[in-house]
Amino acid sequence: MASSEFAVEMQDIVKQFVTPEGGILAAVNHVTMQIKDGEFFSLLGPSGCGKTTSLRMIAGFELPTDGNILIHGKDMSQTPAFQRPINTVFQQYALFPHMTVEQNIAFGLEMKGVSRTDRIRRVGEALEMVRLPGMEMRRPKQLSGGQQQRIALARALVNKPEVLLLDEPLGALDLKLRKEMQLELKTLQREVGITFIYVTHDQEEALTMSDRIAVMSKGLALQIGVPEEIYERPANKFVADFIGETNFLDGVVKRQNGNVVEVDLPGSGVVFVESSRKFTNGQQVAVAVRPEKLTLNSEIKDGNNLKGRVEEVIYIGTDTQYGVRFPGGQKARVREQNTSFAHKSIAKSGDEVMMSFTYVSPSLLTE
Ligand SMILES: Nc1ncnc2c1ncn2[C@@H]1O[C@H](COP(=O)(O)OP(=O)(O)OP(=O)(O)O)[C@@H](O)[C@H]1O
Ligand SMILES: [Mg+2]
Repeated sequence: MASSEFAVEMQDIVKQFVTPEGGILAAVNHVTMQIKDGEFFSLLGPSGCGKTTSLRMIAGFELPTDGNILIHGKDMSQTPAFQRPINTVFQQYALFPHMTVEQNIAFGLEMKGVSRTDRIRRVGEALEMVRLPGMEMRRPKQLSGGQQQRIALARALVNKPEVLLLDEPLGALDLKLRKEMQLELKTLQREVGITFIYVTHDQEEALTMSDRIAVMSKGLALQIGVPEEIYERPANKFVADFIGETNFLDGVVKRQNGNVVEVDLPGSGVVFVESSRKFTNGQQVAVAVRPEKLTLNSEIKDGNNLKGRVEEVIYIGTDTQYGVRFPGGQKARVREQNTSFAHKSIAKSGDEVMMSFTYVSPSLLTE
């Protein structure tokens, strides 16, 4: 089976659609990714960025306009969908309403000619996996949304696919159930060891569940990395903005000394940022820094300290968010955790404050 350390490889994949309006749309535009065997890999991006199209090509429901798809090192261009070692779980679970849970799960096995005794055993095992043992005789409408989604999952797992594709499988569930299912799915994936390729537009979901994430926009894979890299070291403004919250302070590089870049924020001051990238003097950059990496009125020695004025204070339970305006006109959001029991806000609207951050907190972005 495994003739490659990669379960799935997309090599320079292009998918063009001719639109009814007569144009050509590149739904996927030269995407290359290597998904490791046993990995929980997520495609994350806004609506229309090409996530489902990518999955459909891996599954074989759609052929690439250009590029190759390999599964365990084997080129799939001549392999039809039903012969690929893959199963898909969709957002609309599409269970057969007139069939029992057992019949739904066993459907694929029956098609493959698996004997009745084996079918019953494997359905039982699949139901154990999704923690719904004993539900064989129910019909879909006698199950909750979350249970139906588990049955859809069992129906895919019962085929023992090498790769499971999941297209927004939790999209129809309410927030609380979705969060529970996220953790369960992650645990289940570890237990069964099957490679999961998971599509979502929910950044928190992707961070919670994934070993690695590909952030997509407009048919491009903008960054592929582990959740920490994607969050702490976004490659560009789109990724920084799409995942979590980010302040972009626009500035100009004054000079670079090894890994330390001196950036002038016009009218607001000069800051130092550590970066392994090479910049030229006079280059326009954005100092991208997360609100929780900023702090008010506790000066950092060997760090950046900027004077500003508080414009608003928003209490949000776990944190308080401050909007701080600098003399040059730029603004930053600062998050302070409300850790102490008798929390008193650090500053109020109109106060002069010192905003501080370390040299390593921001990313310096140019695009
Ligand atoms: N069969 C098709 N014919 C023409 N255009 C298509 C077709 N399928 C998808 N598209 C277009 O390709 C682009 C990518 O679509 P895709 O379904 O992959 O997006 P997505 O990332 O899954 O979005 P969502 O989060 O909304 O599901 C969209 O602009 C869509 O309109
Ligand atoms: Mg989609």
